[in-house]
Amino acid sequence: MKMYEDYFLERQPNGEFFHDEDGFYGVVMNGVECFIAEFHVAKEKRRSKIGTHMFNAICDVARSRGCKRVTANVSVNAKNSTESLSACIAVGMKVIPGSANVICLEKEI
Ligand SMILES: CC(C)(COP(=O)(O)OP(=O)(O)OC[C@H]1O[C@@H](n2cnc3c(N)ncnc32)[C@H](O)[C@@H]1OP(=O)(O)O)[C@@H](O)C(=O)NCCC(=O)NCCS
Repeated sequence: MKMYEDYFLERQPNGEFFHDEDGFYGVVMNGVECFIAEFHVAKEKRRSKIGTHMFNAICDVARSRGCKRVTANVSVNAKNSTESLSACIAVGMKVIPGSANVICLEKEI
């Protein structure tokens, strides 16, 4: 996990990475926007609201830093993209205009 964190932070100089035994996320805060670039819950722990708690924690930090919205992308080509999209919708994100094969989402915070 440390190597993945290093990889993420090398590619995203303004990125922030969090991980614990339940999952991890990587975000990039840029003024009013907090983009969730990576978000993962351990397979055996899914459907117990860990993802919801992690998302709400991201929103709390983003809000405290002055962000007005949290955004994320779901690639339609990714495995289980329908489930990923369902989880995004469940935490209140809305679909916004995007580009081909990528569903873009945002939530005002
Ligand atoms: C998507 C993911 C982060 C969800 O994490 P989670 O901890 O299981 O999510 P939660 O338990 O907080 O789920 C909250 C709600 O989201 C929806 N949801 C979550 N997983 C779902 C699934 N596989 N299918 C349909 N709806 C789902 C449900 O409405 C769920 O509420 P419910 O369990 O009461 O029905 C997790 O499945 C994951 O890591 N997937 C692989 C990586 C990924 O897709 N990342 C997101 C990219 S945008």
